[in-house]
Amino acid sequence: MLARVEHWTTIIEPFRIKSVEPIRLTTVEERGARLRDAGYNLFNLHADDVLIDLLTDSGTGAMSAEQWAGIQRGDESYAGSPSWFRFLDAVTELFPFRHVIPTHQGRAAEKILFSVIGGAGKVIPSNTHFDTTRANVEFSGAEAIDCVIAEGRQPSAIHPFKGNMDTDALDALIRERGAENVPVVFVTVTNNSGGGQPVSLANLRVVREVCDRYGLPLFLDACRFAENAWFIKEREDGYADAAIGDIVREMAALADGMTMSGKKDALANIGGWLAMNSDEWAEQSRNLLILTEGFPTYGGLAGRDLEAMAQGLREVIDEDYLRYRIRSTAYLGEALVEAGVPCVQPIGGHAVYLDAAGLLPHVPPLEYPGQALACALYREGGIRGCEIGTVMFGQHPDGSESPAPMELVRLAIPRRVYTQSHVDYVIEVIRWVAERASELRGMRIVQQPSSLRHFTARFEPL
Ligand SMILES: Cc1ncc(COP(=O)(O)O)c(C=O)c1O
Repeated sequence: MLARVEHWTTIIEPFRIKSVEPIRLTTVEERGARLRDAGYNLFNLHADDVLIDLLTDSGTGAMSAEQWAGIQRGDESYAGSPSWFRFLDAVTELFPFRHVIPTHQGRAAEKILFSVIGGAGKVIPSNTHFDTTRANVEFSGAEAIDCVIAEGRQPSAIHPFKGNMDTDALDALIRERGAENVPVVFVTVTNNSGGGQPVSLANLRVVREVCDRYGLPLFLDACRFAENAWFIKEREDGYADAAIGDIVREMAALADGMTMSGKKDALANIGGWLAMNSDEWAEQSRNLLILTEGFPTYGGLAGRDLEAMAQGLREVIDEDYLRYRIRSTAYLGEALVEAGVPCVQPIGGHAVYLDAAGLLPHVPPLEYPGQALACALYREGGIRGCEIGTVMFGQHPDGSESPAPMELVRLAIPRRVYTQSHVDYVIEVIRWVAERASELRGMRIVQQPSSLRHFTARFEPL
C-alpha cells in the first residue's frame, strides 16, 4: 500500500550533509588530564579534545550552501556595500525598526546601548538578563533586575511560557524606582538563562501596556526570536495557522528596538545588531559604533558576514527547520526526563538544562554543583556543557558571592550540526553519570577575574 509522506511521524533532519569534520575520539584518562590542565574550566579546553560540544549554540551552527554562496558574493566596500543593503532588507523585513546598527556580535550591541542609556542610578528590568547583558548593564553603573514569573525560577514547574515577565513585579519595580530611572524595559526571547523558555505574545502585550503607562521604551533581546515564534505557533491560542514571519513581525511591532546576536537565529558564525526607532539614541549609538566597531554600514563585520546573516534570517523562519530544531532538542530532554534525570521543564528551544541542584543535593551552591556535573560529563563522555548557576551569576560587583536562583548545566544544541546518534550517545553518557551522581564532589575556585568569572576562573575539586 502506498503511504503519503506527510503521514510519517519520524521528524528527519531537513537537510543533507555535504561537508564533514572529524571528531577525535579520546579516552577517560586523556580527558581527565585535559580537565586538570584546563583548571576544571571547560572554556579552557581545546575544542578538538571535545567529542560532542554543547558549550553553546552561539556561532556554532552549520551554514547552508546558500549561506556559503552569500559569503562568496560578499562585497567588502567600506561604505554602502550591496551586502549591507541585503542585510538591512532581511532584518527590516522581520523587524521594521527605523535604525539598524550592525555589530560584531550581541554583546557589542548591548555595550553600545547601555553606554548610551545606562549609568549610575538607572535600573534595567528584564524577564531574565543574559550574563553579557547583565554585565554590560552593571558595567555602565546601572542595575539589572530580573522579573520573570515565579514558574520561570522553578526548574520542574510546567508552564507553556515560562519566560514570561511578571508584569505586576515589573509595574511595582517601576513605581518603586521611579520611571525616570528606568530608561528601557527588556524582554529576552527565548529566555536563555531561565532555560530557553518562550515568552507569549499575550505577555508581551501586557509588558507593552505597562511600558506605555510610564512612557517607557520596550526592547527585545531577540537572539532566539524564531524559536520563540515557533513556540507561540505551537502553544498560544489563535496562532496555529499563523506564518512564523508574521508572528515575528507581531513581536517586533510591540517593541521599540532590539539587541541581537546573529550567532543564534540569524544562523551565522558571527554578527549581531542593535535596532531601534529612537533617532536620538540611534545617533549616539552610531557615534559609539564608529569609535569601537566601524562604519555604520558594516559595524564590526565583513560584507560576507552580513550576507551570511541575511540568508540565515530567511532560512531560520522555515517551518520544516523550526519543527526539526525544537523537536530534536525535546528528544534529548524527554529521554533524560524519562530516565529520571532532573531537567528544566518543559524542554526549551535551543538547549536542555540539567538541574544540578536536584541531581547533586549533597553539594551546596557555593561548592558549585553545576560545575562539578559539567566536569563529570566531560571526563566520562567528552561532552562539553556550560554551568549556568552560582559560578555564572553568584559573583557581585563588590566582590561578594551568593547562590544563584538555580544550579543548571546547559547542553546547548548547535544548529544543524549533530545527528540523532550523537544525541543518543549524549543520553547514554548522562544517564551513566546521573546514576553515580552521589559520588560527585563539589569544587572551589582558586583564581577568578572581577566579572564574568565563568569564562576564565580556575577550579579544584574538593
Ligand atoms: C539571550 C542572549 N543575549 C545576548 C547574548 C550575547 O550575544 P553574543 O554572544 O553574540 O555577544 C547571548 C549569547 O549567548 C544570549 O543568549
